[in-house]
Amino acid sequence: MSDKIEVLIPEEDVDAKIKEIGDKISEDYAGKQVHLICVLKGGVFFMCELAKRIAIPVSMDFMAVSSYGSEKQSSGVVKIIKDLDESLEGKEVIVVEDIIDSGRTLSYLLEILNKRGPKSLSLCTLLDKPDRREKDVRVDYVGFEIPDKFVVGYGLDYDQKYRNLPFIGVIE
Ligand code: IMP
Ligand code: MG
Repeated sequence: MSDKIEVLIPEEDVDAKIKEIGDKISEDYAGKQVHLICVLKGGVFFMCELAKRIAIPVSMDFMAVSSYGSEKQSSGVVKIIKDLDESLEGKEVIVVEDIIDSGRTLSYLLEILNKRGPKSLSLCTLLDKPDRREKDVRVDYVGFEIPDKFVVGYGLDYDQKYRNLPFIGVIE
């Protein structure tokens, strides 16, 4: 059985927004190199598209985490399933995420990464659900603020499906 999916943010709007964020990052870090960190798997589509829109030197690394807790409610205690390959020492690091919901996962992750000596540490997310926030996290770059709805596409999944949709959708 397939789910009916309603478009929340069309592909053109997502692409335009990513270009906008890429321009902003290129400007903010002019003359520097940025080190993008993707939190797998959700962040991968956004990070690849974003990297293509950044006009300054970019390096990339990937990590996978699982948060203890139920599917719907993350506990905020993060277990690293796959760690980064490279050190963060002295780098201008930008963590690239698909969505910030309660903020629990990210606030814990940022704490861990901060201890690894980056020159700077920023956070960039394609989507933000501010109504759901429980943990204060400073988000430097936000694509879209969205209402408290469960969304899929552009890396976001429902039961591992729909990550490949080129738009942001809501399951009806
Ligand atoms: P939190 O900010 O710690 O609550 O968890 C954020 C994570 O929950 C994200 O990285 C997603 O993997 C997942 N998540 C939160 N909201 C959604 C959604 O609407 N669709 C798909 N995954 C979501
Ligand atoms: Mg995620």
